[in-house]
Amino acid sequence: MINKITDIFRQKFFVEPLVVRAPGRVNIIGEHTDYNEGFVLPAAIDKSIFVAVSKINDGQAHLYSADFDESFHFPLLYIEPTKKWTTYILGVVDQLLKRGCHIEGFNLAVYGDIPIGAGLSSSAALECATVFALNELFSLGLEKIEMVRIAQKAENTYGGVMCGIMDQFASMFGKRNHVIKLDCRSLQYEYKPLKLEGYKIVLFDTNVKHKLASTEYNTRREQCEQGVKWIQERYEGITSLRGVTIEMLQQCVAPQDDIIYKRCKYVVEETQRLLAGCEDLERGDIQSLGRKMFQTHEDLASEYEVSCRELDFLVSAVRGNPAVLGARMMGGGFGGCTINLVKESAIEELTQLIYDSYKMKMKLEMTPYVVEVEQGTQRINSNVYANV
Ligand code: GLA
Repeated sequence: MINKITDIFRQKFFVEPLVVRAPGRVNIIGEHTDYNEGFVLPAAIDKSIFVAVSKINDGQAHLYSADFDESFHFPLLYIEPTKKWTTYILGVVDQLLKRGCHIEGFNLAVYGDIPIGAGLSSSAALECATVFALNELFSLGLEKIEMVRIAQKAENTYGGVMCGIMDQFASMFGKRNHVIKLDCRSLQYEYKPLKLEGYKIVLFDTNVKHKLASTEYNTRREQCEQGVKWIQERYEGITSLRGVTIEMLQQCVAPQDDIIYKRCKYVVEETQRLLAGCEDLERGDIQSLGRKMFQTHEDLASEYEVSCRELDFLVSAVRGNPAVLGARMMGGGFGGCTINLVKESAIEELTQLIYDSYKMKMKLEMTPYVVEVEQGTQRINSNVYANV
């Protein structure tokens, strides 16, 4: 991959590039909690986006995607959102310029193996890779956490999704064989060893991404904010669903709106579930963690209503299977992948079984990915990636 991106870049731009790798992410538990100032438990994975860059003194961004075999050129003084992959790169450039960072023209080539639209945060990885590469190229001196904020803001403004901070944080701060317990209010984080004892993380990709995904996502966010407003009418000092109790919801939100009550209740319970899930992980009780994942799925489907029939099918198909400790939809919802904790020796057989039944019932192909937990965003050359 590293040689490939370097070769692609040389052929396109005829100079030596600086290369950065940024990974996609999984999230073990804690879904739709990040923008509610709760906790999340993501990890960076061994599927990545590689970005190669060099300077060019013409005030333009020359962008090439090897995956799409497309080139575009944008004068830095006149950039705006696009409907293509370029929007995530331009969103980052826009944020850097808004912060007064001095960037000049640059060449950039991108290549990767994170499936697009599968809920593995390929856009966050592209944003992280871009900001990291430009930070190095123009010696901007940005801290990692600032780069995360820039990447998130790029997604909000140029990607059109009011996402929380989880995806960009995980892509930037990931650590091999560790999950990140991130407090999305304080942004304090802790790495926890992911000891799966003979089990592996297996993703089953529905290969669907329903159109409503980003509008429904933004609606969920607004519904949670509305819930918070009603609570604030009675309780001082509440700024998010963090710290809100079910009693408060019953008192302030239930009488106003049933749907908003369900949404907020899900978030409050999921935050509790995540904290208990972290204790499971510490005790090495992955059985118990797995059961919580199933519960999260049920609540995402019935209370938060961000699942879809394809995701529900894939989760029900593994429920009760002794080789599967836990499974649930992952990420924003309405398509993408389920995350499963599967006994290593059973992966092949299970995958075939699920592939066949998904094809028969949904008339669709399911794509499996067995993922490893990897390092976060980093500058690389041929030696570095192999040794971290
Ligand atoms: C998407 C968003 C994240 C997060 C998840 C749901 O992946 O980008 O910020 O909200 O959905 O947990």
